[in-house]
Amino acid sequence: MGKQKDGTEAAAGFGCINRRAFLFASGATVGGTVLLTGVPGMGKQAVEARVSRYPRMFVENMSRLVLNEPVRFKYPDKGRNSNSILVKMGEPAGGGIGADRNIVAFNTLCTHMGGEMGKTFQASHAVLGPCPFHQSTFDLTRHGMIVSGHATESLPQVLLEVEGDDIYAVGLIGLIYGRYDNLKG
Ligand code: FES
Repeated sequence: MGKQKDGTEAAAGFGCINRRAFLFASGATVGGTVLLTGVPGMGKQAVEARVSRYPRMFVENMSRLVLNEPVRFKYPDKGRNSNSILVKMGEPAGGGIGADRNIVAFNTLCTHMGGEMGKTFQASHAVLGPCPFHQSTFDLTRHGMIVSGHATESLPQVLLEVEGDDIYAVGLIGLIYGRYDNLKG
């Protein structure tokens, strides 16, 4: 770490920081308050910017997971559109946790028009879909990337952490359908 001109600490070696550090660096889970300077129209006046933090929420015990049997949960809150699944698949996946990197979680609202896909997991292809509305299908081994159908955005992936036997949801990549802010349900 070294001092920058504005007095903040600069992360040394971005390529070797861990996921949590990356999220803080990228602003996805930054918490608290930061002061911005140099905002157009504000001169040298300091501007307070409030940023939010994803909750760390217990989802399930690792030892209770059954291969290819999704566990349904809600994240990041109990509101509408927060339906999600946690699933232990038969193959490694991007963002997967566990010894085999095969445990992932996703929001289950289709990114096209919000079709609910929580019951459409297909173990044989490691996909979620087809969506009951217009047949979109998403690859859970590749961060929820669209495989076919009308959707153009990947499914929001729930970031996971393991502590002992406990699995926690700690963040999201991608915007939940129907929200302009994942944390405003
Ligand atoms: S809402 Fe899912 S494909 Fe249209």
